[in-house]
Amino acid sequence: MRIAFIGSGNVGGALANQLRRLGHEVTLAAKDPKSKSITALLARNPDLKVSPPSEAVGTAEVVVLATPFQVNVEVVKPLAAELSGKVLIDCTNPIGPGLSHGLGSKQSGTEMLQALLPQTKVVKAFSIYGYENFEDSSFPGFGVKPVMMFCGNDAGAKETVAGLLRTLGWEPLDVGGAEQALHLEHMTLLWVHMVRLGGRPPGLVWAVLTR
Ligand SMILES: NC(=O)c1ccc[n+]([C@@H]2O[C@H](COP(=O)([O-])OP(=O)(O)OC[C@H]3O[C@@H](n4cnc5c(N)ncnc54)[C@H](OP(=O)(O)O)[C@@H]3O)[C@@H](O)[C@H]2O)c1
Repeated sequence: MRIAFIGSGNVGGALANQLRRLGHEVTLAAKDPKSKSITALLARNPDLKVSPPSEAVGTAEVVVLATPFQVNVEVVKPLAAELSGKVLIDCTNPIGPGLSHGLGSKQSGTEMLQALLPQTKVVKAFSIYGYENFEDSSFPGFGVKPVMMFCGNDAGAKETVAGLLRTLGWEPLDVGGAEQALHLEHMTLLWVHMVRLGGRPPGLVWAVLTR
């Protein structure tokens, strides 16, 4: 699959690296191909391609957004035409002061993106845990796979994302439409509170038991 990354830091870098290793054609969208994050990532995996944003996104089937939330609008707005009809995986989280929800829990960042890009199939995924779990999603010896909850309005786009999740070792759990993203964003805050502030290990993830 042709996958473009907007944002190549902790999250984008980990996922781009893993997906390239799985054989996908991965392109990093870069205004500055010599930026710190692109340079560091290419040193880890020279098989990654780098292209200007409109070219990377325009030729991709799936686009991963892994930028600081506050730049999302300025980053995606100029790419609206290239993103039209595509799957956009939203890994971003609006975080406010004191680990509050960055949009006051009134609307999710994902719904905001979906409203801004009505022709794009936005799916929230890879958002509820720290990037360490995207570097390595194997949990051997537990007898269950780690779960990745995801949501979005387009069933086909979610199937595409579920497929990528499975190949990366996750148990995909579709939690519903984009309106569920607010709950996922609150789960992120819970995880950050427990791990980054509370000292629990970054390899803390959830699993699903069903009967
Ligand atoms: N860190 C985590 O554990 C984690 C886990 C799940 C979700 N998230 C969410 O994922 C997103 C990315 O987090 P991260 O930790 O990967 O951040 P990061 O390491 O700081 O990386 C951010 C990336 O976005 C790029 N970027 C920043 N401003 C930009 C702009 N104006 N235009 C284009 N690209 C820009 C940076 O490029 P340059 O290097 O060129 O500036 C960098 O590649 C955030 O929304 C975060 O809430 C984070």
